[in-house]
Amino acid sequence: MSEPFAAVEIIGAKRDNCVLTDPQIDWIVDAYTRGIVADEQMSALLMAILLNGMNGHEISRWTDAMVNSGKRMSWSKLRVPTVDKHSTGGVGDKITLPLAPLVAACGAAVPQLSGRGLGHTGGTLDKLESIPGWRASLTNAEMLKVLQECGAVICAAGADLAPADKKLYALRDVTGTVPAISLIASSIMSKKIAEGTSALVLDVKAGSGAFISDPEQAKLLARTMVDLGNRSGVKTRALVTAMDVPLGLTAGNALEVRESVEVLAGGGPADVVELTILLAREMLELVGVTSKDPATALKDGSAMDHWRRMISAQGGDPDAKLPTAKETQQVFAETDGLLTKMDAMKVGVAAWLLGAGRSRQGEKVQAAAGIEMHAKPGEMVKKGAPLFTLHSDEPERFTRSLAALDGAVSISTSNEKVERLPLIVARIE
Ligand code: URA
Repeated sequence: MSEPFAAVEIIGAKRDNCVLTDPQIDWIVDAYTRGIVADEQMSALLMAILLNGMNGHEISRWTDAMVNSGKRMSWSKLRVPTVDKHSTGGVGDKITLPLAPLVAACGAAVPQLSGRGLGHTGGTLDKLESIPGWRASLTNAEMLKVLQECGAVICAAGADLAPADKKLYALRDVTGTVPAISLIASSIMSKKIAEGTSALVLDVKAGSGAFISDPEQAKLLARTMVDLGNRSGVKTRALVTAMDVPLGLTAGNALEVRESVEVLAGGGPADVVELTILLAREMLELVGVTSKDPATALKDGSAMDHWRRMISAQGGDPDAKLPTAKETQQVFAETDGLLTKMDAMKVGVAAWLLGAGRSRQGEKVQAAAGIEMHAKPGEMVKKGAPLFTLHSDEPERFTRSLAALDGAVSISTSNEKVERLPLIVARIE
């Protein structure tokens, strides 16, 4: 059958800043997924989109075309409403781990399809895989069973969920076309719409450790995604939150699981606890489940019970000892003073260089590698006190990681102010 368009026409239209028509968008996304449009043609179109943008209608149509490239899941067999959270990614962002069982403990169901880390940002599946026995790949029937029995499931997306995004994301990653609001918004929302959740809370990160560092651009991304979700029948809202400083006191897979378990046990770092509770409240309010407050579910052990059931249901042993690194090395404060800055990007890159992340899709990560932070901006430190502990199974990695940490922190001996974004930058409905 002859094709209704030639890719080069569509590339030329976007290059010349024209609005793409619905049939052009439907065809190019479908034809690329089928392998009719070549990678070099799609790369050129993605770059034209990055440079010239897409309007709201084009983004919405592009998103629908990606959803329609695969299957849409349905949770109609569940008796409780479904609600999910998606973070645009950051350093030390382990919030999904305590959040999913917490929201389940409060009475909603959380079907969470998560990803793996790439570059300096960690991935939820890599973190959970540091728990001995835990399995990320589930069939749809297994996913439903875990959701029915535990109220929450965190697993990998199947091959038939928005396959167009899988191809497009891999191509964007190697063609410098990731940081375009239209492409990020359609990529994330196509997967969340196809996942079949009835409601969604987005955690859009702003700051050096985020994909989009400028808070104003992050707000625009949040607005774009909230509109896409609501237009597709997914009740969606967003918090724009700080990613100029790492979240919590750990970055790295097993280290972050340990910190998440501390939060579920009623402890943990204040910023992780605060963001987990705020996001849980937003999720529960969105689906009208307000009988139990998340702060109570963290204190009374019910969130921990849901975590243990969820981990066991996916083959994991919640009591197993988490892996620890063969080698550690500390970084010490060079002077007394107030810690005014800790750059999330530098800490993320340093953790990645220790083996916590991957530089190519499919690469293996080290479960125990990463960084512990012993102080955060706003705290006084003493000369010689530890600032960071680096963990790795391969000590030869320390040199490059230490170089990446160069300039990551500022310690002020005068009355300099702490430079950081507020934890919650904006709320978008
Ligand atoms: N995460 C996604 O799923 N897609 C993007 O484009 C960026 C982050």
